[in-house]
Amino acid sequence: MPISFDEKKKQFHIQTAHASYVMDILPGGWLRHLYWGARVERFDGASTIPGMDRSFAANPIRGNRDFSLDTTAQEYPAYGNTDFREPAICALQADGSRITDFRYRSHRITQGKRGLSGLPSIYVGESRAESLAIVLRDEKLALDAVLTYSILEDSDAILRSVRMENHGIAAVRITHAMSACVDLGDVSDWDVLYLPGAHARERIPERRPLGHYRHVVESRRGASSHQEQPFLALLSPGTEEQHGEVYAMSLIYSGSFQAFAEPDQFDITRMAIGLNPFDFSWQIAPGEAFETPEAVLVYSGEGLGAMSRTFHHLFRKHLCRGPWRDRVRPVLANNWEATFFDFDEKKLFSFIDRAKALGIELMVLDDGWFGHRDNDDSSLGDWFVDHRKLPNGICPVADHAKRQGLSFGLWFEPEMISRDSELYQKHPDWALGVPGREASEGRGQLVLDLVREDVQSYVIESVSRILTSAPIRYVKWDMNRHMTEAYSKMLPPTRQQETMHRYILGLYAVLEELCTRFPDVLFESCSGGGGRFDPGMLYYMPQTWTSDDLDAVERLRIQYGTSLLYPASTMGAHVSVNPSNQAGRNVPLATRGLVAMQGAFGYELDITHFTEEECEEVRKQVAMFKKLRPLLQQGELYRILMPEHHGAPSAWMVVSEDRCTAFLTYVQPLARPNPGLRFLHLSGLAPELRYQIDCVIASAKEHFPGVPSAWSEKGPDGRVFGGDELMHAGVTLPILMGDSQSFGWYLHAVGERGEVSWQK
Ligand code: DGJ
Repeated sequence: MPISFDEKKKQFHIQTAHASYVMDILPGGWLRHLYWGARVERFDGASTIPGMDRSFAANPIRGNRDFSLDTTAQEYPAYGNTDFREPAICALQADGSRITDFRYRSHRITQGKRGLSGLPSIYVGESRAESLAIVLRDEKLALDAVLTYSILEDSDAILRSVRMENHGIAAVRITHAMSACVDLGDVSDWDVLYLPGAHARERIPERRPLGHYRHVVESRRGASSHQEQPFLALLSPGTEEQHGEVYAMSLIYSGSFQAFAEPDQFDITRMAIGLNPFDFSWQIAPGEAFETPEAVLVYSGEGLGAMSRTFHHLFRKHLCRGPWRDRVRPVLANNWEATFFDFDEKKLFSFIDRAKALGIELMVLDDGWFGHRDNDDSSLGDWFVDHRKLPNGICPVADHAKRQGLSFGLWFEPEMISRDSELYQKHPDWALGVPGREASEGRGQLVLDLVREDVQSYVIESVSRILTSAPIRYVKWDMNRHMTEAYSKMLPPTRQQETMHRYILGLYAVLEELCTRFPDVLFESCSGGGGRFDPGMLYYMPQTWTSDDLDAVERLRIQYGTSLLYPASTMGAHVSVNPSNQAGRNVPLATRGLVAMQGAFGYELDITHFTEEECEEVRKQVAMFKKLRPLLQQGELYRILMPEHHGAPSAWMVVSEDRCTAFLTYVQPLARPNPGLRFLHLSGLAPELRYQIDCVIASAKEHFPGVPSAWSEKGPDGRVFGGDELMHAGVTLPILMGDSQSFGWYLHAVGERGEVSWQK
């Protein structure tokens, strides 16, 4: 049984295939954390933190100086009753007190896993699950904190959330309610890893020593944001891709969040993730409950690679939903960087014709098709066709795509309103804003108040009307500013700190309804690129536009950081114009293609401007991608060389589940004269299999003469090598001439288990 309770020891033990998580109930009823790490069969407490009289500790049990919550590893620490560290829960009460004291009351272990009301969460799907709910109660308030832990048969992740239930007679106001909190011993000399960024530079990993310092990663922007990612990991010294221990937390949420790691004076490190307590509170009336978002906890004893693969599998199989979960993603062409706002029906028709000739499967019409939107200052909210640009509406364009054998997709930004719009003329009060203060614009627009049910209905109906008006098979759902003046006119003054979270709940309600109405539509979320690339959005939309930076060399680092958590199928990646609009860099088409093939692949440049030669190359690129697509989008990722800094070479592999096929991509941003030799140590292969290596794409026509490389040198068996040799001895890396050069190798097992050759 993966979740057990030892009545004698009062001990809970949660076991996945490779991890154990252990807690017990202390004699006073406090829930103590005992262990999280590599799986153990039983836990008898050899590493328990001893109780002792510590100076300046406060003692909740009168006369017992050896016990303080400040020196106890806890599961859900409260504020004000002897623990001086950051709390997980804090509640403001009618008498002005903020003190709570939660003690064990009951627990239950059940088969399965329930969803959260109104919030995205991991679902069981084809797997099996078990859950533990531990009820902690603050007796004075009759306030319960129900801590839930769930595990799935096919995952090493542990899922945690908390439900606060008010069984008392007075309302309480929650000001902190983290989704998960854990006190870890023996990690204070570890590193902390997080994914900060900015618009067009999202999720660039940073790693630094923990020290005695409270590391906080947070968003206060009403969106998970470009600036931070709802994720935090602790890494044992020297941890890299294949070695070392990792504790990671991610949050299934799209709004303001906080994650922190706080090593204390005795080297116990508190790690937590949840809603951002900054400017947050939530009133729970008697008989009501409040549910936190779900946190995903992953322990890896085999480095960052294994951590990523656990997240990838979980998010791909138990978070993304609908028919698109298991489908490969269509190759798309998006007109944004080709035309921006300047297009008409004729231009779109020729775009579609060219897309068809190239083998592209989906044509996406981006911003600018509605209202009178010739720039980003107007029309958001007016979701009706601009007949100046499309005199016959959307339908003929979508039909033309259909006739050419392509699907058609459309851009929306439904959460926003422009002052220059008919909607704003009718409903100026629908924007978030404080009465008596001018609401600030961002990208010239205001944020709709999705707390309001009338606004939610408007968004649902206006998007539905367009989606039913034409054969639209894909939606890009954009969101291009963060929240300011986060005040909802629907809420009373005492509940204004609920606005940001209620907005996200409103957004989730809208998305749930649209996904139910249009189950076959492929939704891609976007927020000025990857400003809301989070697990919350993936529950509704199985892919996300990774970044507005399309420059292939820049994308190496962005996609590396993103790949720490998110699988290829979720990561929108497009071939850009050359030189790129973002960095003005020249990158060969083959390299632009190979980098975009790391994700949900497409083209975002004026494909009607391709020369004959480029058309030929793109045709081949698309055809090759289609052959590789199931492997690239559903295989397992092994990172080989990390683009730790600008100019660093990057290499990654995707390996099929049966290990019979693999694809390796290598990109060299900067060439060096007379460089040293390197060996690429491949990863994820079956040591006992022999693989043939075929170089199926290469940007550099030449490499340094005289330098052997596995794909060009024929050994006694042709280009066939053992998996063990490729992983341990490695492959001589060809030395490429020129910047931004790359190649892609297809590996297939030969002999008994695999005969999948590239030619087939
Ligand atoms: C921001 C997105 O990230 C872009 O891809 C594009 O859709 C623009 N918005 C359109 O306004």
